[in-house]
Amino acid sequence: MPSFEVRTPQCVYQAIVERGIIDRLHEFIPAKAGSVFVVTTQDVWQHQGARAEKALADVPHRVLYLPGGEENKRLAPLEALAEQMVRAGGDRSSIVIAFGGGIVNDMGGFLAAMFMRGIPVVQVPTTLLAQVDAAVGGKTGVNLVAGKNLIGAFHQPQAVLIDPGVLDTLPSREYRAGLFEVIKCGVIRSPRLFELLEHRVHDVLRLTHDAVDELISESVRIKAEVVSADEKEGGLRRILNFGHTVGHALEAETAYSRFLHGEAVAFGMKAATRIAELNGILSRADRKQICDLVNRYGPIPPLHGIRAENLLGRLIHDKKTLRGKVHFVLPERIGEVRVVTGVDDDTILSAIRAELL
Ligand SMILES: NC(=O)c1ccc[n+]([C@@H]2O[C@H](COP(=O)([O-])OP(=O)(O)OC[C@H]3O[C@@H](n4cnc5c(N)ncnc54)[C@H](O)[C@@H]3O)[C@@H](O)[C@H]2O)c1
Ligand SMILES: [Zn+2]
Repeated sequence: MPSFEVRTPQCVYQAIVERGIIDRLHEFIPAKAGSVFVVTTQDVWQHQGARAEKALADVPHRVLYLPGGEENKRLAPLEALAEQMVRAGGDRSSIVIAFGGGIVNDMGGFLAAMFMRGIPVVQVPTTLLAQVDAAVGGKTGVNLVAGKNLIGAFHQPQAVLIDPGVLDTLPSREYRAGLFEVIKCGVIRSPRLFELLEHRVHDVLRLTHDAVDELISESVRIKAEVVSADEKEGGLRRILNFGHTVGHALEAETAYSRFLHGEAVAFGMKAATRIAELNGILSRADRKQICDLVNRYGPIPPLHGIRAENLLGRLIHDKKTLRGKVHFVLPERIGEVRVVTGVDDDTILSAIRAELL
């Protein structure tokens, strides 16, 4: 099974995609490690904990639970866990295993970054979104009232263990939301992945092993490559934001309650694709092909009541608060994108309006 190397100035590590890798979890804990802390949620542990417990049968460890849910992705639960770690004898030689979806990966990673000024973390992502995106790349953090992911750290893991088998218990809406991020990977960098998603819709949706394993591997390969070239999002890493400019505006406009992240990105990708066509950098046929693929893995929840002007207002507001420019990642063809600034408001409005219909 494939293993992808992530090379950053901080360190080099492997993201391994392998069915059954969770059964070998103990092999990834260094012999010299002190206390082992598994950070997870009750929900994830109920579904997938048994296999991890079996793998860790001979490794003394303690399971710590986070509350789960985006509204609980805050600093306070991490402080509580850190107190528990100290009480349990945790010190600089301890290690964290972040076992769960993107929220657990972000929070467990941040806890490891802060505890005793930094201890190692092994990422074990259990949602498709976390496997293809959140767990690889070392971005960790939590939300503030003022906004998402506003405090955090770059803290690269020791290893990322991706077991496609865990997706069997994932709710189908969560799975499909992750698939939109996979479509994103195809559009930005891999015609081969795009084709797989087009030709094997049925297999992908039914979790046929070879199709799922391949789409995860190809997405992780791309993420590993992009992060290795640009750890801190100065350049190339920005292409991973395809669909996220309008996607984030849609999430904020609906108070993070109506759409899953991947669903908002699905809408954002369609809007960006339309902007690309309106700006004359993408052919109509390619625009249609991209939007058709997004639709085939839909539908996303209904968009009624959402006003294009409000989404544009959010983009302008973000621009002000970030003292920067609105960046759009626009496809030029399937597998190639360009980062563009200075798209005019009328173009953004017409693209969003067209997709809201
Ligand atoms: N660090 C990054 O680069 C990065 C990238 C993308 C997203 N993120 C973050 O990821 C978070 C979203 O992650 P998510 O979509 O994985 O959501 P999540 O972590 O909330 O998981 C979604 C749901 O699935 C459940 N679940 C997880 N694994 C399961 C399994 N195998 N079987 C059954 N149920 C399971 C969880 O309990 C939860 O209810 C956001 O906070 C986002 O900011 C971070
Ligand atoms: Zn995303």
